[in-house]
Amino acid sequence: MAQLWGGRFTKETDQLVYNFNASLGFDQKLYKQDITGSMAHASMLAKQGILTDEEKEEILDGLKGILKDIEEGKLLFSPEYEDIHSFVEANLIDRKGDVGKKLHTGRSRNDQVALDMKMYVRDEIKEMDLLLKELLESLLKIMEENLHTYMPGFTHLQKAQPVTLAHHFGAYFEMFKRDRSRLADTGKRLNLCPLGSGALAGTTYPLDREYTAKALGFDGPTLNSMDSVSDRDYLIEVLSDMSLIMMHLSRFCEEIILWNSNEYQFVEIDDGYSTGSSIMPQKKNPDIAELVRGKTGRVYGALMSMLTTMKGIPLAYNKDMQEDKEFTFDAIDTVKGCIALFNGMVSTMEFKKENMERSAKNGFTNATDAADYLVNHGVPFRDAHGIVGQLVLHCIEKNISLDEMSLEEYKAISPVFEEDIYEAISMKNCVEKRNTIGAPGTEAMKQVIELHKKYLKENS
Ligand code: ARG
Repeated sequence: MAQLWGGRFTKETDQLVYNFNASLGFDQKLYKQDITGSMAHASMLAKQGILTDEEKEEILDGLKGILKDIEEGKLLFSPEYEDIHSFVEANLIDRKGDVGKKLHTGRSRNDQVALDMKMYVRDEIKEMDLLLKELLESLLKIMEENLHTYMPGFTHLQKAQPVTLAHHFGAYFEMFKRDRSRLADTGKRLNLCPLGSGALAGTTYPLDREYTAKALGFDGPTLNSMDSVSDRDYLIEVLSDMSLIMMHLSRFCEEIILWNSNEYQFVEIDDGYSTGSSIMPQKKNPDIAELVRGKTGRVYGALMSMLTTMKGIPLAYNKDMQEDKEFTFDAIDTVKGCIALFNGMVSTMEFKKENMERSAKNGFTNATDAADYLVNHGVPFRDAHGIVGQLVLHCIEKNISLDEMSLEEYKAISPVFEEDIYEAISMKNCVEKRNTIGAPGTEAMKQVIELHKKYLKENS
C-alpha cells in the first residue's frame, strides 16, 4: 500500500478494506487523461507564480517520462497504489523527489477524477462517432445498389405494402444519424472543465481556471465547484445515447436473424460472420447478430446502474461515484465492438433479391394499390376497401395472387376493373409511384440519397 493520506491515521488500513476501496485495477484506463490534466495543472501553477519555472519543467519532464514508460510497457500498474491518481503522483515523486510533491497544490482527486472521466468520454465519443459514420457509409452503399430491390414492408410482422431494400435500410440510416447527433450533443454539453474545483469548494490559490480549460480543449470552466466534482450527468447521457445505439443495432440484428432464417431466406450472412453447430452439421448460425442483440442488455444495465448509483448521493463527492467507471468503460467497449462487427457483417451479407421480390408478391402487398385503382376510377375509398377485401378472399380460396386473377374474375367482383389493373398493381408501379419525400419510390429515394451524401460530407 502506498497511500497519499497516511498522516492522520494511527493504524494501517486492513488489506480487505484496501482492496475494496482501490480502483487502480480499472481506472488505469485513465492514465493518459490523468497525466495530460496534471501537465496543464502544473503549467498553470507556474504561470500563476505558485511554482517556479524550473519546478514546472521538472514536473513536466517527470510526467512525460511516466507516460512514455507506461506506453512502452516499462512501467506497470502495481496494485500497491490505490488509484491512477496516486499511481502517477507517487511515480513522479519517485522520479523527481520533493518537487513532485508540489504537483497536487490547489487540486483534489475529486476534481482530478471528474476531469479525467470527462476527457476519456470526450475521446470515446469521437471514436464511436467515427464508427457510426463508417456504418452509415456501408448502409448508403447498399441503399444505392438496391433502389429496385423489392421486398415486403411489414406491420405487425405481417406483409403490408411493398418497399425496397434501399428504403428499409434507409430507416436505419435515419436512426444511426440521430445517434450521432445525440452523441455530439452530449459531447458539447459535457465540455466544461471541472479542474480547479478542488475537493468541493474551490481553493484559495489564485488558479487560472480559464487557462487550464482552454489548454485541455474545453469551452470554459464549470461554474459551481460542488457540482463540478459530483456531476455525472454526462455519463448518464452517454450511456443513454449508447443504449439507443444498441437498441437500433438490436432491432436491425433481429431482422437480419429473421431474414437469414430458412423460412425467409432474404439474406445470407457471410461464412466469416457465421458459426457452426458442434452437433448439427447443416447449421450456420447468425451468432454475431445474436450477440449484438444480447449485449444490448449489458449496456442498458450500465445505464440503470449509473442512474441508481447517482439517485441518492448528497452533494458533493461521495465514494459511490467510483462505481461509474467499470460499467461505463465496459459499455463503451461493448458499443464500439458491436458497431464495428455489425458493419462487417452487414457489408459482407448477400441479399437474395429474387426471394425478397417473390415474398413481396405473395402477400397481397399490392392490395392497397388495387383499392387506389378503384378510387382513381371514382369509387369511394371505403367501398374500394370492401371490394379489394373480396378480391383477396377469392385469391385465398384459389391460392393465387392478385396478379394471377383473370379480368373476368375481377369484373365479377367489380365491373370498374379493366385490363390496366395489372399494370396498376405491378410491383414496379406499387413501389416506384410512391414518390412523396421519404417514400420508397425511385425519385424520392434518389433525392434522399443525395441528402445523405451531403450529410456525410458535412459531418465527417
Ligand atoms: N478513485 C476515486 C473515484 O474514482 C477518485 C476520487 C477519490 N476521491 C476521494 N475523495 N476519495 O471516484
